[in-house]
Amino acid sequence: MVDRLTASMAVLDCEISEIRLLLERHAGVLLDKPAEALCADIAQYLESRHMNSAAELMGALRNFSGERDALLERLLPGDTTFFRYPGAMEALEKRVLPELKQRKKYDHPRSLRIWSAGCSTGEEAYSIAIAVCEALKGDSGGWNVLIVASDIRQQALASAKKGLYPRRALKNVPRHLITTYFSRVGDHFLVKPRLLSLVTFTPMNLAQTSFIGRFDCIFCMDVLPHFSLRQRTTLLPRLHLYLEPGGCLFLGQNEKLPAAEVNFSSQSYLSFAYHQRPLAAAAKSGK
Ligand SMILES: C[S@@+](CC[C@H](N)C(=O)[O-])C[C@H]1O[C@@H](n2cnc3c(N)ncnc32)[C@H](O)[C@@H]1O
Repeated sequence: MVDRLTASMAVLDCEISEIRLLLERHAGVLLDKPAEALCADIAQYLESRHMNSAAELMGALRNFSGERDALLERLLPGDTTFFRYPGAMEALEKRVLPELKQRKKYDHPRSLRIWSAGCSTGEEAYSIAIAVCEALKGDSGGWNVLIVASDIRQQALASAKKGLYPRRALKNVPRHLITTYFSRVGDHFLVKPRLLSLVTFTPMNLAQTSFIGRFDCIFCMDVLPHFSLRQRTTLLPRLHLYLEPGGCLFLGQNEKLPAAEVNFSSQSYLSFAYHQRPLAAAAKSGK
């Protein structure tokens, strides 16, 4: 405790500002924590890395992207839960996937590609997998389903891959879906192999350009509000580009697209709003 206090006092305001800037440039995120809380987190990090000063940390942050990632692992908010925004999963299952099934009815093979961008510990990706299984019930044999789930935090991904969750993570999941898609292991719940097999977890920094193909749906929920305006403005057109024509972008329930963003058309199912990349004119008219 004394050590932590000593280290905490050693982090100067100007060093906190530079660390914020370095991390914003690296990962797009604005660390909106008050300086005092950030100071305490950084002091703990210094201790865990056996570093003697914030100046030593800043040297490592400037030179090694691994160090920036490791610090972000500690600082980024990763709050999530299964069916965090139930309206989003309902829109996916009841509106978006039935429309996709219709559009792809003559495709051979029929493929469905969904990306959970900023997936944290995996709850969002597995919720998507449940919605997909429910929507394709009785029809799944004919589909190649791939759900890619990415995050910058490696430890979050390692936990996601295990698929083991405490009961509180499932508080929004209806009982019949828990029985179908989870096995009880002590007082935890393990995602069944059928869901595990649909999801591929991969590390990815959304602030860096990397193309992993086109998707029918992209979920980027509660990620952009933590990004700086500059990085948000860069990422949104990329997400648009990564969608198939007619594909849908899901943001968090209270997130809005900037007014200037005209490339998406707004859709809603019940009260949940999502954003669609318009279909090409020829495809729309069936030509
Ligand atoms: C608040 S959580 C939201 C998790 C999930 N999407 C949900 O809504 O339940 C935000 C996630 O975005 C991730 N994230 C933040 N910046 C990122 C970046 N530059 N690249 C990839 N992931 C990032 C964080 O690690 C965190 O897991």
